[in-house]
Amino acid sequence: MPMISRAPDTGVWLLSTPRTSYALRVDDTGAPCHLAWGPRLTLREAEELAAPQPPVASSFEGRPEVGEELPVDGGTRYGPPSLQVRYPDGSRAFEWQHTGHRLLQPAPGVAVLVLLFRDRLHPLHVALHYTVRDDTDVIERHTVLRNAGDRPLSLLRADSAAWSLPPLPGYRLSHVTGQWSAENQLRRDPLPHGETVLTSRRGITSHHASPWVMLDDGEADEEHGRVWSAALAWSGSWRITVQRTPGGRAGFTGGTGHEGTVVPLAPGEEHTTPVFAGLFTDQGFGAASRAWHRYVRDHVLPHADETAPVLYNSWEATGFDVDETGQKALAERAAALGVELYVVDDGWFGARRDDRAGLGDWTPSPDRFPDGLEPLADTVHRLGMRFGLWVEPEMVNPDSDLYRAHPDWVLHIPGRTRSELRNQLVLNFARDDVADWAYGWLTRTVADNGIDFLKWDMNRSLSEAGWPGTADGHDRLWTRYVTNLYGVLDRLRDDHPGLRVETCGGGGGRIDLGILRRTDQAWVSDNTDAVDRLVIQHGFGQVFPARVMSAWVTDVPNQLTARTVPLRFRFHTAMSGLLGIGGDLTRWPEEELAEAAELVAAYKQVRHLVQHGDLYRLSGPHGEQPTVVQYTAPDGSETLVLAWRRGPRHGVPQPPVRLRGLTPGARYRDTRTGQVHHATVLAGYGYLPDLEPGDWASTAVHLVRAD
Ligand code: GLA
Repeated sequence: MPMISRAPDTGVWLLSTPRTSYALRVDDTGAPCHLAWGPRLTLREAEELAAPQPPVASSFEGRPEVGEELPVDGGTRYGPPSLQVRYPDGSRAFEWQHTGHRLLQPAPGVAVLVLLFRDRLHPLHVALHYTVRDDTDVIERHTVLRNAGDRPLSLLRADSAAWSLPPLPGYRLSHVTGQWSAENQLRRDPLPHGETVLTSRRGITSHHASPWVMLDDGEADEEHGRVWSAALAWSGSWRITVQRTPGGRAGFTGGTGHEGTVVPLAPGEEHTTPVFAGLFTDQGFGAASRAWHRYVRDHVLPHADETAPVLYNSWEATGFDVDETGQKALAERAAALGVELYVVDDGWFGARRDDRAGLGDWTPSPDRFPDGLEPLADTVHRLGMRFGLWVEPEMVNPDSDLYRAHPDWVLHIPGRTRSELRNQLVLNFARDDVADWAYGWLTRTVADNGIDFLKWDMNRSLSEAGWPGTADGHDRLWTRYVTNLYGVLDRLRDDHPGLRVETCGGGGGRIDLGILRRTDQAWVSDNTDAVDRLVIQHGFGQVFPARVMSAWVTDVPNQLTARTVPLRFRFHTAMSGLLGIGGDLTRWPEEELAEAAELVAAYKQVRHLVQHGDLYRLSGPHGEQPTVVQYTAPDGSETLVLAWRRGPRHGVPQPPVRLRGLTPGARYRDTRTGQVHHATVLAGYGYLPDLEPGDWASTAVHLVRAD
């Protein structure tokens, strides 16, 4: 069956992925209408769903709020518009006129449908893009808008796509909320009637919400049930509006910008929205996450097939107090533990002694690095590690040479306060000269010092987001800031194909499918407490794969929470992502260094499973039971079980967990104990991870097929 087909009589379009179908058609009024998103259908079957709409019930109803591919502001529509336009004459509205379609096959296994429309009155063209692939159930959608007239117009709202669910008896919404150092707190609640807005108004993806949603009928669990989900590939302000209509339907629309932001469209100009990708599964939240993880690895990340190195980062060890001697000493110790990438964090440049000065002056401090960064880079390389550097290119301290030279380079509104957060202002990356300046020093710094890795940070939200001196810059900057940021990253990667980049925004402030297209891993949170981290990682992993989930083992008592948990527990938490170490190794006792070296070596034995395998969440991080996750080779040849227990309470029973993804009938050997287990028992009856008595017990069990 072709991936995209059309029924000639009814005009129904059917898009097919390996396990799902998506159907739509252009109705009699010219509007693109949704028919189906769910299990696989044939074209015939999809046509059955194209029954005519029931007549409107009263003069107060209009077209249904849910059920169009891109509900516009126009006609008798009263739901949240995905597209809202203001024309040069001040009038609004959009009236669909279908002008054709295109079918493309950009690569083997990929099919694209483009439905073409224009407004009946004004020369505004709208193209709806749908991409399906033969190796994922994720459907990518975006919209292209073109002003074919000779006067400027404004897009008051230009969402990427609207997604509609079938009528269900009830709906539940899953998403994450959070704040700095407590990102990705998973919420799973009944979907309220009316409109629920998930958004960032901060100019960045944000710690407070993540641009994805999942909806189910209220009964799905990790293993079962229908789940409809979507994720937006955008790193600036965004908004997803989820609706539950009085008529019993649910759907959501999503795109860039928050309420009040406007996208100007000059004559001849085209605006391409980011992708808002959707996924349906009938096998629960676990399957949804695994499908997202595979999609991100196969179709988003630039180098997901690589094995990510074990990293050391100096931030928690030294703070701003970095110099050549101290860093070399840490590098020696890190190398001895088996670390493969050494990253110097904040404090290496300009007058940066704390967070009050120096940001923007990207030359090594002469008193700390008298001969520049090269000697340190050489030492790190000689020790057999790659060399990484922290940068925060979008920011400036007012106390810096850069700001003294270019006070107009920051986002600001003349006459208004320039609000500082962490003593810094935001450079206007929407300006090409600012973006070019950043690209210039970055590409030179990378080239001159043999830099293999950048930790690209962003430590505050936008404020007074103005671009004086331009006619429509105040509006344009919300998108241009992000596209210029993407442009700098793309240019850097082109210049330095070996360069790898970590996205960081004061922890997890900028993680989304847009930034992941041009980075390799993500700093998930500044909270490195291994216990808090299990909760943060649980929320993060709903959509984002362990392949990008950077996690460090740091010192105890933890800097933030003052909690002390054993080194093993900290390691096991970090080993469920990209293992890093961030403690002050000069203070670790010999026995901890030895244990750490063993755990690093153990991680290297299993990291292919963590980074490229399938994640099964066997028991979540809340409640009294141990947290258990499993990473399995897609062919079932081996698996890693990680388990953590907080304080046990006497008499609370601990039931076994049933392992997933094993080959039925096979036997598996525990690589540490040599014990052999039957898959039938592990999967059908369960497995009890062997946890020591007492608080903060943890274990990592590697099972390999024995026959
Ligand atoms: C942010 C990052 C930290 C560290 C500091 C340095 O908070 O998330 O990991 O790099 O900045 O100032």
